[in-house]
Amino acid sequence: MPETVTITDNRTGQTVDIPIENGSIDMKAIQKLMPGTWVLDPAFGGTASTESAITDLDGANGILRYRGYPIEQLAEHSTFLEVCYLLLNGELPNQEQTDSWVHDVTYHTFIHENMRKRFMEGFNHDAHPMGMLMSAIAALSTFYPEAKDIEDPGNRYKQINRLISKGPTLAAMAYRASIGMPFVYPDNDLTYAENFLSMMWRVAEPQYKPDPVLAKALDVLLILHADHEQNCSTTTMRVVGSAHADPYSAVAAATGALYGPRHGGANEAVIHMLEEIGSYDNIEPFVESVKAGESRLMGFGHRVYKAYDPRARIVKEQADKVFEVTGKSPLLDMALKLEEIALNDDYFKSRNLYPNVDFYTGLIYQSMGFPLDMFTVLFTIGRMPGWLAHWQELLEQGQRISRPRQVYTGVGERAYVPIAER
Ligand code: CMC
Repeated sequence: MPETVTITDNRTGQTVDIPIENGSIDMKAIQKLMPGTWVLDPAFGGTASTESAITDLDGANGILRYRGYPIEQLAEHSTFLEVCYLLLNGELPNQEQTDSWVHDVTYHTFIHENMRKRFMEGFNHDAHPMGMLMSAIAALSTFYPEAKDIEDPGNRYKQINRLISKGPTLAAMAYRASIGMPFVYPDNDLTYAENFLSMMWRVAEPQYKPDPVLAKALDVLLILHADHEQNCSTTTMRVVGSAHADPYSAVAAATGALYGPRHGGANEAVIHMLEEIGSYDNIEPFVESVKAGESRLMGFGHRVYKAYDPRARIVKEQADKVFEVTGKSPLLDMALKLEEIALNDDYFKSRNLYPNVDFYTGLIYQSMGFPLDMFTVLFTIGRMPGWLAHWQELLEQGQRISRPRQVYTGVGERAYVPIAER
């Protein structure tokens, strides 16, 4: 059977055979056949915007692989920094490469003092840390104007290194500013996750040493969030990157996309939802209201996964380990009950709605002491290497500027009406 599709323009009788390669057809062939006719695909539900060799996501079968390695194996054996290297370079690092990469990331964690003293202090006392982080990342571009030279791979490496190193510092800085606590400088003797927890929680102790179970859980959660192919924020990163903006500006834009409750903001929304449900007795009526279209079951459903999100399974395992240290979250039993009801209900079954990564992450973050408004900030730190790997890939592909078309549905030409006649 030929691996092609034939399209006929019935207006002209002209036909084109288009090869099906990697499960997709090249739209350029259709444009050639029917110039001025566009494919209407709002929200890109049926459009592959690029070729990519970074993350393999098979939503029907619940499979997620970074550069070919299953997420389950990476979560069990790897570290977040190793996964960053893998996403960015395509291969796991050997010992020498690991030492040099970890050294580079560890020694770029500090931030220019003006960022802390002048920039961060300018926010209102109740500023959301996600808004502060997004603005701070954009502001970094003014400290590193050489970042505009996106053609030079050495220069790109420097900016990628800085963004991965400084993300946790800016995130912790935003948190400390929001609660009126002094900023804690990075501690280069700690691992990536430990250092972040130290900048979050250290008070007067000479060195903060987080519980190893909590540091490990955080590291695993960062791995799970590290990439997820062409999701909303990564697409934003690629679109802004295609205009050849510097990486700080592109990451700030991607952070803005992640902030939304349909995307990275869902982990925070899950806790709000569980708190609003309030008690066991209210779960069934809540599920009924979801089925009636009055609300959404946050942390459920996914554009791509039509099976159980493999990340959600790993998060659940980590939750058990974390709760042994912190004590069980009072919301956990409600979440488990909600999941059980939904998984057995026809509404959710017929729509293939399963828990996604965000259903249980919020419970872990909350037990570790993170306030709700830091949850999406944690997602941002995790997603940073994915955004940067896609940005780098886009530049190496030499992709043209992203510029979709529209189907105009407004009124036709009409004459200007003076204000007195309106
Ligand atoms: N609760 C109830 N119904 C839902 C839900 C949900 N969470 N998600 C989808 N549906 C229904 C939806 O109403 C629609 O029903 P119908 O066919 O009768 O109109 C059907 O399922 C298909 O949904 P959709 O809106 O076409 O799906 P989508 O691919 O556009 O949206 C989503 C994907 C993730 C935005 C959506 O499932 C959702 O809003 N989930 C809750 C928010 C959430 O948990 N987001 C985190 C996603 S994972 C982390 C990340 O990638 O950021």
